[in-house]
Amino acid sequence: MGSLPSAGSAADDEPPAVKTPRFVPADMAVLETIAIAFWAMLPAYVPNNAAVLAGGGRPIDGGRTWGDRRVLGDGKTWRGTAMGIVAGLALAAVLTVIEPSVGDALGFDLPEFTPFAAVGLAGGAMLGDILASFLKRRTGRQRGAMFPGLDQLDFVVVSLPLVALLDFDWFREWFTLEVLFVVVVLTPILHVTTNMIAYKLGLKNEPW
Ligand code: CTP
Ligand code: MG
Repeated sequence: MGSLPSAGSAADDEPPAVKTPRFVPADMAVLETIAIAFWAMLPAYVPNNAAVLAGGGRPIDGGRTWGDRRVLGDGKTWRGTAMGIVAGLALAAVLTVIEPSVGDALGFDLPEFTPFAAVGLAGGAMLGDILASFLKRRTGRQRGAMFPGLDQLDFVVVSLPLVALLDFDWFREWFTLEVLFVVVVLTPILHVTTNMIAYKLGLKNEPW
């Protein structure tokens, strides 16, 4: 008992030792930025995966060609697109409802989605995917062919400007430069991983 050093006894002339916290504030800030980026992008990430699960039926281009190539191809269907958007909007609603409790548990605020932000993220993701198919067909790529870079970022490139257009205040509040940076780095990693899983599960024909 007497062997325990007690504060203020032996070393009164020494400054009190400063304990280094396990997470210094800078690390916390990085984790917070990653969490915000992931959460904010979830309504844009999910539509593509939902489209893979729900796709099929009538293609958007109705089989039409431009020159000797399909306008979009059989991989872009009305049902897949509609279900993708519905899934993204539903997820945005769920995240908005649970944000207070999740934010409380984590100790920082996460985005709650305004209707315009949700539409921009979910709709923009599907629109970006469709535009990517359009570009693939124009460059002579068959359905399912890969287009590195475009495949991984098509939904970011369209959804973020659309969100900024539809609800600039919300966009500016959440998509800081740091968050945008994380989105650009994180999105391709998540995209490659989820597509690989979908391929292994037999849900997707190609691993990209
Ligand atoms: N899908 C859909 N509607 C969409 C997007 C996807 O029905 N708007 C479905 C299709 O069944 C599609 C599958 O999800 O084949 C995989 O999506 P994706 O990889 O985006 O399409 P690809 O088949 O690779 O076609 P593309 O080369 O035009 O991208
Ligand atoms: Mg594909």
